[in-house]
Amino acid sequence: MPHKTDKNPSLAIFLDRDGTIIEDIGDLGNPEKIQFLPGAVSALSWLQTRFKLFIVTNQPAVAAGRLTMRQVEAVNNCLLEKLAEARIAIERIFVCPHARAQGCDCIKPKPHFLKIAQNDFGIDLSRSYSIGDHPHDAEYVKNAGGQGIYLLSGHGLKHLNELESAVWITPSLSEASKAIMGDFEHDHDNDRIYTAAKIVREGGVIGFPTETVYGLGANALDPKAAARIFQIKQRPAFDPLIVHIDDYSWIDALTNDLPQKAERLMRAFWPGPLTVVVPKSKIVPDLVSAGLDTVGIRMPAHETALALIRKSCVPICAPSANPFGYISPTTAEHVDAQLGGKIDMLLDAGPCSIGIESTIVGFSDTGATILRPGGVSTEAVSAVLDGQLSVYPHTHVIHAPGMLPRHYSPRKELRIFVGDIPKHPEAKTALILQKPRPFPKGYMTVEVLSQNGDLSEVAQNLFACLRKLDQADIRVLLVELAPQSGLGTAINDRLRRAGCKSVLFDTTAAHETENQDRNYQTN
Ligand code: TXA
Ligand code: MG
Repeated sequence: MPHKTDKNPSLAIFLDRDGTIIEDIGDLGNPEKIQFLPGAVSALSWLQTRFKLFIVTNQPAVAAGRLTMRQVEAVNNCLLEKLAEARIAIERIFVCPHARAQGCDCIKPKPHFLKIAQNDFGIDLSRSYSIGDHPHDAEYVKNAGGQGIYLLSGHGLKHLNELESAVWITPSLSEASKAIMGDFEHDHDNDRIYTAAKIVREGGVIGFPTETVYGLGANALDPKAAARIFQIKQRPAFDPLIVHIDDYSWIDALTNDLPQKAERLMRAFWPGPLTVVVPKSKIVPDLVSAGLDTVGIRMPAHETALALIRKSCVPICAPSANPFGYISPTTAEHVDAQLGGKIDMLLDAGPCSIGIESTIVGFSDTGATILRPGGVSTEAVSAVLDGQLSVYPHTHVIHAPGMLPRHYSPRKELRIFVGDIPKHPEAKTALILQKPRPFPKGYMTVEVLSQNGDLSEVAQNLFACLRKLDQADIRVLLVELAPQSGLGTAINDRLRRAGCKSVLFDTTAAHETENQDRNYQTN
């Protein structure tokens, strides 16, 4: 039931018809062929509680002789009736029947019909919205100071490249309605997330929290914005970015042929610390995927991150917010210390709850592979895939630079050990233990990652601890490996990469082994 009473009389939404409200089947002259797009009717019903609704449609098929004006009117009348049955009132349908070459005044994005709405209905165009699946629809009210919204439904995917970047982009009318209502109902001046979202929409780069680590975010559909991330992070262009989404509705727009295994994992672990690497659609810029034909996608389990993506109205590409190759940040202070001066805004929501990056899973005809262990344990991923999972071995070709042998590294020398704590440490060595235990003399300082050996607590504290010691007057960091199961796999993975130049003391096997990764490239 619409709540007509609180509708603001001066605000309007100008909606395109085909590909926005109803299916675009081309030259629609038969009212029986009207088919609403999924979610469109309920979106209109919600929007009309706050806005006057207008439909503006270009029908060049009339000028071309493929449709008569009568047919177009019959379709429009039937559409109005169907909407009225759903208690939705459209103030007026404006039709331009001309071909662009005729040079008429009424074709979108020319403002002729907007002016009529302004005069006849007292519409404030600068606070109104236009929505549609063609760049003209999004530019329409934007040229008059309002907000344009571009949809990926209808012909949206096809024309995306022709779009200016400063309009909002949403998968369908349903998401557009959420974005508009969120925008309308917010206290913009006091909403930091809204401000950050606006920066993202306008091509800026911001620091923001996720449950794993802090990210350096930009509009994932805007290559120029993504390029700034590479610049700020000094990240090589061969290293693709993960695209963060707030809603499953983005999946169709971003991917092609989603592997069924990926879908199972998404349903099991999203929102959460899992990234799926899946075939990308053409709307993902090559820079974001580093020229690969796949894209890494994840839906973070963090309220601020989700609200940010929702309010931005675009997916957000984000690497961890640290200079390339260094330890990932788990607090806003970490981000500020290294990148503060280079980014447009930093959202602070306290320390990250997981503290280690997402698990990355790739897919091929032969199965699923863990490309990077992370916040979701290998065992949990394997259980969802009924054991059909391989784990990427260290020595293979590099598919993801997060798999580079030396990565996530402090500047100081980092060594790792399992078993007994090495005696007679070198001068200025810090000892980092998984949980409290007796230790030999001679260590400059001793840090304990968890009081009871809880691996989630270890993950949460690890990066902050490495950072702190990296800045202290210490020469060597000697870190105990975690048990190799659950989150321990991801923790040890990071420690091995961070300590690539190091010696692995394996006192359980009573020998010392040189880390075989010694010759690997440093980033
Ligand atoms: O938890 C996380 O994943 C964090 C937060 C911010 O979401 N992000 C993160 O991003 O760790 P980054 O860029 O630091 O690491 C992402 C890793 C890189 O190693 C990259 O190469 C890999 O994901 N990656 C991204 N897209 C890929 C693709 N299409 N194929 C293979 N690897 C990909
Ligand atoms: Mg990183």
